Amino acid sequence: MKNFMEISNSIKYLGVNDHTIDLFEGQYQVPNGMTYNSYLILDEKIAVLDTVDVRFTEEWLQNLKSALGSRQPDYLIVQHMEPDHSAGITVFAETYPDAAIIASAPAFTMMKQFLGTDFSHRRMIIKEGDALCLGKHSLSFLSAPMVHWPEVIVTYDSYEKILFSADAFGKFGALDVEEDWADEARRYYIGIVGKYGMQVQNLLKKAATVNIQTICPLHGPVLNENLEYYLHLYDIWSSYAVETGGVLIAYTSIYGHTKEAVLLLADKLREMGCPAVTVADLAREDMAKCVGDAFRYGKLVLATPTYNGGIFPFMREFLQQLTERNFQNRTVAFIENGSWALTAAKTMKSVLEPCKNLTFAENEVHIKSALNEESLAQLDALAIELCKDYSSKA
Ligand code: FEO
Repeated sequence: MKNFMEISNSIKYLGVNDHTIDLFEGQYQVPNGMTYNSYLILDEKIAVLDTVDVRFTEEWLQNLKSALGSRQPDYLIVQHMEPDHSAGITVFAETYPDAAIIASAPAFTMMKQFLGTDFSHRRMIIKEGDALCLGKHSLSFLSAPMVHWPEVIVTYDSYEKILFSADAFGKFGALDVEEDWADEARRYYIGIVGKYGMQVQNLLKKAATVNIQTICPLHGPVLNENLEYYLHLYDIWSSYAVETGGVLIAYTSIYGHTKEAVLLLADKLREMGCPAVTVADLAREDMAKCVGDAFRYGKLVLATPTYNGGIFPFMREFLQQLTERNFQNRTVAFIENGSWALTAAKTMKSVLEPCKNLTFAENEVHIKSALNEESLAQLDALAIELCKDYSSKA
């Protein structure tokens, strides 16, 4: 049975689908599973790029053996040492004792830490600009530190014009499930790499110097059409630019009064022509999606009650996740609710203090327990302010 996919006559996909995982990286919900990708280049010399998660190394090894036929690999190129890609190194090294292990110097340091050996008798240490000729395929290596760990290299094959991009351009979701690329790629990117926009920009600049016709990431599908679309989204995400005009209203509510204000504001924004309005209950919705949406839209409304002298726990977690990921370049508005300590807006602003280039809306909504005439008027004023860029009615 053939248990690998053809990317071209000489490049094979060896990856696996994971539908057994509950939380990717111990925290991200992946209802449609996950892929761990690995690739094989067959030429005069043979190279394998990366391995897979520990629970799938046997399946991956069978894929590799099937694709190799009677041949033996010459190299294992380790682009990234995170265990979802590196768990098969040991079994590869045991199965193919004559193959060299190729990686960056920091990757070999991590190999010793994770696997107990850095393969000093059979390793090749590579760095930015180094090349490896396999025959027709000539590979060049680009360092991509913090995309998403410091040891990462990506690999460009000038013969088939393929960028093996490590974690970059990956997404959540297994390959046997059809779903929109951008939504799960955004949730993956913002969650996992969002903090490192500058480093991703550096990688995009390097990638722009070569002719790329196919991107082979370590998660998600191989990309070989309309590459401008994917590159453009990565440029937006990594430069913290606005992807979609519109508003995310992120809220927490204890007895429904704050929620009532949020839903009213959402209706007003839609009536006034706001191009997109997304409402997220931070206690009930996937936090990674909420964080991704905060980076997607140009404006963010935060609504929460005071709680234990601070803000409701899910809002605190949300804001912490934004600040950790260098949230910036956005308009932020505040709705606070407090029955005896109306201080949530002040607390939220202080948590956002480290963020660069945030514009706080002039109009705030201050709810004392429940909406009244005064706070309803504040909601109207906030809706008008948020919509002034979008609507002739506002
Ligand atoms: Fe898919 Fe950073 O590992």
